[in-house]
Amino acid sequence: MRIPFNKPYMTGKELWYISQAHHLGHLSGDGSFTKKCNAWLEERVGCNKALLTNSCTAALEMSAILADLQPGDEVIMPSYTFVSTANAFVLRGAVPVFVDIRPDNLNINETLIEAAITPKTKAIVPVHYAGIACEMDVILGIATKYNLIVVEDAAQGIMCTYKGKPLGSIGHIAALSFHETKNIMSGEGGALLINDPNFIERAEIIREKGTNRSKFFRGQVDKYTWVDIGSSFLPGELISAFLWAQMEEAESITKRRLAIWETYHQSLSELEKSDLLRRPIIPDGCVHNAHMYYILVSNLEQRNGLLTFLREKAIYAVFHYVPLHSSPAGLKYGRVSGEMVVTNEVSDRLVRLPMYYEMRVEDVDLVVEVVSKYFSKNK
Ligand SMILES: Cc1ncc(COP(=O)(O)O)c(C=O)c1O
Repeated sequence: MRIPFNKPYMTGKELWYISQAHHLGHLSGDGSFTKKCNAWLEERVGCNKALLTNSCTAALEMSAILADLQPGDEVIMPSYTFVSTANAFVLRGAVPVFVDIRPDNLNINETLIEAAITPKTKAIVPVHYAGIACEMDVILGIATKYNLIVVEDAAQGIMCTYKGKPLGSIGHIAALSFHETKNIMSGEGGALLINDPNFIERAEIIREKGTNRSKFFRGQVDKYTWVDIGSSFLPGELISAFLWAQMEEAESITKRRLAIWETYHQSLSELEKSDLLRRPIIPDGCVHNAHMYYILVSNLEQRNGLLTFLREKAIYAVFHYVPLHSSPAGLKYGRVSGEMVVTNEVSDRLVRLPMYYEMRVEDVDLVVEVVSKYFSKNK
């Protein structure tokens, strides 16, 4: 029996809503399904404005435009993240300044941020890894002190909270992902969430190719025209219709994933007690969404050995991230602040185990059994 790493879950209503969009005949962006999704996000997250985008990458690119970054401006972020966190800002000529992560939750180490600030620093991008919140109180305190914009990369953070506040509602701006690999998805997809109302009007313009078309549709101007830079950042209605079916099931999807996560967590506790691996740590005040289940093994050799052993048994696990600071583009466009000790180590030691909605308890048991077998042979 084969256990894939991920299997996108369809709720069963996606094609029905797509057929409704087809019937309504409005297939470009900002039709009724996009509006429903935006309203759901505004209510659920409590942000001032939600705008669906083609991807989290697109939402991050919009954030970089909104932050008004000029060539040479600096943006503080972890190196242990997906490329888009940095790329979106590099496209504006800004310099990513990479800071090491915390050993417990693998998020940016908030105690190292202040040392990375220079007169050129304009923004901080905390990435909520695995849907587990960064230490936002400290990060916001630093941002206020130095007058910096906070862009939450909440790609993995739908349905998660920090001290009771939904992720995406805390920084000035936030970006969500609805990529196929995420808990709630539309193949490709994302959203820009705006908490600082000063960014709303410009965000609508940037998303609509630099025009004031949104104002025109609301009857606030009698013709629309080119007023700013921008691009085509909005999804068509077929994507939004698909996403709506997923949003309707967001609670039950999260609940089920959390049950799978908990099964892994309980079953792997003995191996952790024997010091063979480390399980995820969820700090107090953080509610996560079971986006992923990862383990940390001792070293690179053991990590590669475990991945191969699992694959031989048709179980597909993966590792990530190759740190951005040492990647070719990271070396060219970014710089580090301080040592990247934890980032380098975690990137060698992390294994993401299979995790998807339809995973059965037997599947989790089998993965855990094979992991245990590997350790009994390779202590
Ligand atoms: C932390 C992080 N940021 C950004 C992205 C980009 O998301 P998208 O594929 O929706 O552009 C991802 C995707 O996995 C991610 O994990």
